[in-house]
Amino acid sequence: MTIAYPSTPPVVAAPSGSARPRLTFLGTGYLGATYAICFAELGYEVIGFDIDEAKIAKLAGGDVPFHEPGLDELLRKNLSAGRLRFSTSYEEVAEFGDIHFICVGTPQRADGMAADLSHVESAVSNLVPHLTRKALIVGKSTVPVGTAEWIEQLVDRNSTVDLGVEVAWSPEFLQEGVAVEDVLRPNRVIFGVKSEWATGMLYSAHKGVFDLAVTEDREVPVVVTDFATAELVKVAANAFLATKISFINAMAEVCEAAGADVTQLARSIGYDARIGNKFLRAGVGFGGGCLPKDIRAFQARAQELGVGEALRFLHEVDLINQRRRQKIVQLSAQLLGRGYGPAGPDLAGTKITVLGATFKPNSDDVRDSPALSVVRKLARSGAEVTVYDPEGMEQARAEVADVAYAKTLNDAVTGSDLLCVLTEWEEFRNTDPNSLSPLVSAKRVIDGRNCLDQAVWVAAGWEYRGMGRPVVS
Ligand code: UDX
Repeated sequence: MTIAYPSTPPVVAAPSGSARPRLTFLGTGYLGATYAICFAELGYEVIGFDIDEAKIAKLAGGDVPFHEPGLDELLRKNLSAGRLRFSTSYEEVAEFGDIHFICVGTPQRADGMAADLSHVESAVSNLVPHLTRKALIVGKSTVPVGTAEWIEQLVDRNSTVDLGVEVAWSPEFLQEGVAVEDVLRPNRVIFGVKSEWATGMLYSAHKGVFDLAVTEDREVPVVVTDFATAELVKVAANAFLATKISFINAMAEVCEAAGADVTQLARSIGYDARIGNKFLRAGVGFGGGCLPKDIRAFQARAQELGVGEALRFLHEVDLINQRRRQKIVQLSAQLLGRGYGPAGPDLAGTKITVLGATFKPNSDDVRDSPALSVVRKLARSGAEVTVYDPEGMEQARAEVADVAYAKTLNDAVTGSDLLCVLTEWEEFRNTDPNSLSPLVSAKRVIDGRNCLDQAVWVAAGWEYRGMGRPVVS
């Protein structure tokens, strides 16, 4: 493995003959759409491809089909600059591109913990027969180690003539809500390659990223490595992040039993640079389209490789995470004076308001959202649940139909016996509890993200419960 700075990249010419390689991004979900738009912003000629015609029509019309701060503006700007277009035609993509980035989803399989690679297989098998010259196919989707080699075989199997098409792997690390920044200013880029040509092509494809860094006096470290390492980088990073969150949530459980405060504990250990203070926010746990499924797929792959034992702790990480969701239900029962039996509490006749539906703020993504999972549990226990989220209402309603959705925060809390804040949106963090007091039927709040100012809420007469924090009255 070599770590290089892009001052000495191997120089290779784009097969299309254009000065900079032309890029295509297959799959225009969060990942592909953000990459396509941001790389056009960096000056590349780009096509974003998807089989979903409605999605492509929306993007081509200047509308991002999901909420991501700053992305709409960049989409419109680059569509009008003529650098960016969208297509549902494999033929058009194959004719256009020098480098094809595979950005399709790899969800958890319905029949187990492993990743479903059918979208990757379909993208590669449908693209390759249309290629007419050498090209580089670069995997970005999060996949089990070994996928890049398998894609090489797919390329061989689907090629009618030998064009010398190559494969590479370059995982992404974008976080929803700050995805534009993460793509334009990555903290590192990883090239999993087998040839100098592939390395050179990837350098050219990232020249815009490196040039921007130079103008801002930054460096973007590049790790040039083999396929397997590049594939593992992504899942290892996500496994580490998930472990860090579950570690602090395990500490929250201990704090709850010992009467300690996990927020102060996290701050205190985070000052040690070896530990660091990021990703130590205890709460209702992690969700989203990546961390939960990635730690499961990683365990499944490790088992296949005969090293399941090595990742057995990830099962515990998952369990700690699930327990946090249940904790909200337990706290709700406690605050509402309901008993907690083997089948859970009986919350019939109670009105609970859940503030937040998305898995994190500044996103409309509700995939594996802890907030929605709690909504389901509360509703199953008989509570009358009303949900409000600044951005994710439509998505939430599609997932959980049988609860009430309110149009505003004030509507949501009116007549409520208990508020549960489960996503740390700014609107909730900045809410003055005194303005809510006259609306609710009882001043009780569970702060599932430790994002409210406990002292302010308690001073306003609210019964406040945080996660891993002592009861203050
Ligand atoms: C994650 C990785 O961070 C990113 O690098 C990768 O490319 C994709 O997966 P994302 O899913 O956008 O990104 O969300 P992230 O910000 O990592 O948060 C994941 C979940 O963990 C959220 O539900 C968040 O609320 C929760 N979280 C995060 C905590 O509970 N505590 C923390 O301290 C941090």
